[in-house]
Amino acid sequence: MKILVTGGAGFIGSNFIRQVLALGKDYVIVNYDKLTYAGNLENLDDVAKNPAYSFAKGDICDAAAVESAMNGCEAVVHFAAESHVDRSIYEPAPVIETNVTGTFILLQVARKLNVRRFVHISTDEVYGDMDAGAFADENSPLQPSSPYSASKASSDLLVRSYVRTFGFPAVLTRASNNYGPYQFPEKFLPLMITNALDDKPLPIYGDGKQQRDWLHVEDHCRGIVAVLERGRIGEVYNIGGQDIVENLTMAKALLRVTGKPETLLSYVKDRPGHDRRYALKCDKIERELGWKPTISLEEGLRQTIDWYRSNTKWMARVRDGEYRSYYEKYYENRDSSLHAIAQTGPKPSL
Ligand SMILES: NC(=O)c1ccc[n+]([C@@H]2O[C@H](COP(=O)([O-])OP(=O)(O)OC[C@H]3O[C@@H](n4cnc5c(N)ncnc54)[C@H](O)[C@@H]3O)[C@@H](O)[C@H]2O)c1
Repeated sequence: MKILVTGGAGFIGSNFIRQVLALGKDYVIVNYDKLTYAGNLENLDDVAKNPAYSFAKGDICDAAAVESAMNGCEAVVHFAAESHVDRSIYEPAPVIETNVTGTFILLQVARKLNVRRFVHISTDEVYGDMDAGAFADENSPLQPSSPYSASKASSDLLVRSYVRTFGFPAVLTRASNNYGPYQFPEKFLPLMITNALDDKPLPIYGDGKQQRDWLHVEDHCRGIVAVLERGRIGEVYNIGGQDIVENLTMAKALLRVTGKPETLLSYVKDRPGHDRRYALKCDKIERELGWKPTISLEEGLRQTIDWYRSNTKWMARVRDGEYRSYYEKYYENRDSSLHAIAQTGPKPSL
């Protein structure tokens, strides 16, 4: 089966492609990616020469380019997104454009080409803040808090509307916080790991008591394969690690494992609109598709820290260029950046 994977040069997409090609089934992958700051073909160096893999550079908002890449594909797995909450606060326009308009264009082209299965990759952030003790199931209301999560919720709803209105063969996943190899270091866990390894301060938002459910990216990708192969059309499947940890506890654990002192913890003003807790109920995917996470948080964290330790060249190249200036502007001067933009900053220009 020939599959168009959008956003395959990013963190989860590249792990997914590697995993699918290693299955030894008859999958042929076309990786369609715009190569934004977050897309890195180096993530796929080891499969670049595999005859079942090819790459096409392009934007999901470009309908003609999408059509030529999707032509002949039976399935689409849609990862491509502007995926960072902080960036969505700083500059929402590209987030809305890619996540909402880009998804719309993919749906239109996939309908035109009679694609047989469309897997839309979404996130637990669409459910918004969960009260202590509460867990979101697939029917919980969508209550997104950030421009990023609102754009993901919008694209979820569009996909579902295509199922209902056009009988479009889509299935959706909503996963919790992923971690593992090849994650761009602006996200919480790789930021904490790489700063700890470099003896740099670990920025902790607010009181650090925000809770996240951690899912190893390889477990997530196994879940996506199960949904691709056997998920029921029109259904949503939550995918979570079932390991809920406070950010501060996580940062302290990383310092312990890397042998660094807690004096590296640096409390910074909280992210505007920051959700306190995400928590997923995942019995549907376990019951229907037999999926469960297999990598414990302890084992996954050790493996991930080892990966960042042994891939310093990857890290150095990723840190060059656009990421460096973004990091300096918004992470090294936190108090006067995101919050100011959200509360009193200049009026946005479109
Ligand atoms: N990272 C997580 O913890 C997590 C959790 C749940 C769901 N998700 C979802 O999974 C998907 C992948 O997340 P990720 O962490 O791998 O993101 P990422 O930022 O690492 O990768 C995104 C990829 O999409 C590409 N891209 C961006 N805009 C594009 C466009 N207009 N056209 C074509 N390609 C474009 C980028 O170049 C990059 O390769 C996203 O849809 C995200 O919302 C992520």
